[in-house]
Amino acid sequence: MGNVHVLDHPLIQHKLSFIRDRNTGTKEFRELVDEVAMLMAFEITRDLPLEETTIETPVTTTTTKVLAGKKIGLVPILRAGLGMVDGMLKLIPAAKVGHVGLYRDPETLKPVEYYIKLPSDIHERELIVIDPMLATGGSANDAIQSLKNRGAKNIRLMCLIAAPEGVEVIKEHHPDVDIYLAALDEKLDDHAYIVPGLGDAGDRLFGTK
Ligand code: PRP
Ligand code: URA
Repeated sequence: MGNVHVLDHPLIQHKLSFIRDRNTGTKEFRELVDEVAMLMAFEITRDLPLEETTIETPVTTTTTKVLAGKKIGLVPILRAGLGMVDGMLKLIPAAKVGHVGLYRDPETLKPVEYYIKLPSDIHERELIVIDPMLATGGSANDAIQSLKNRGAKNIRLMCLIAAPEGVEVIKEHHPDVDIYLAALDEKLDDHAYIVPGLGDAGDRLFGTK
């Protein structure tokens, strides 16, 4: 069963408070999301396997450790997932980046896929699907299914904020996927917005609306 990890590092929690604040403007919002994504990348990669290597320091020959195992692929869900990519690339600069374009139909609340472009070797990579918001779970659920349909085998989901409803959807349909969050919020409102949440992540990142 996929685990849910709430990343409670004080810096993540502190910055998330300002991200949530309605008085935080687009520039600062974008910068904070970038910083939190970087901090979350640090936590989410904690269990990556290492292997020993031998190197020469200026003083002697020694055995040290380097990353082993699968290479990483980042898959932001457009649009809002884009806001977290650069922060993650600061720590994982060699990661390849795929894109899944989805929007949530405001009437039906169902996700509509309009774009997908992925690295050709996704089946060999540890993929991290990125979206700031996991609300009903429809968008992340579809994105993960799209990746699996194209051969992806190892997938993690990283979001800033989730509602319990969205977490349950992913656990039910993708029990193999671990979920990493900065916060697990209380509920969804009548428009399927996360409460207390941060509002519309895409609009706040890109200054639309
Ligand atoms: C938002 C958010 C998620 C989705 C979450 O995207 O970025 O992708 O809603 O909702 P769900 O869990 O109920 O599917 P939105 O549809 O607003 O598109 P945008 O990122 O292009 O603004
Ligand atoms: N999408 C958002 O951007 N915010 C929410 O609260 C729910 C879905």
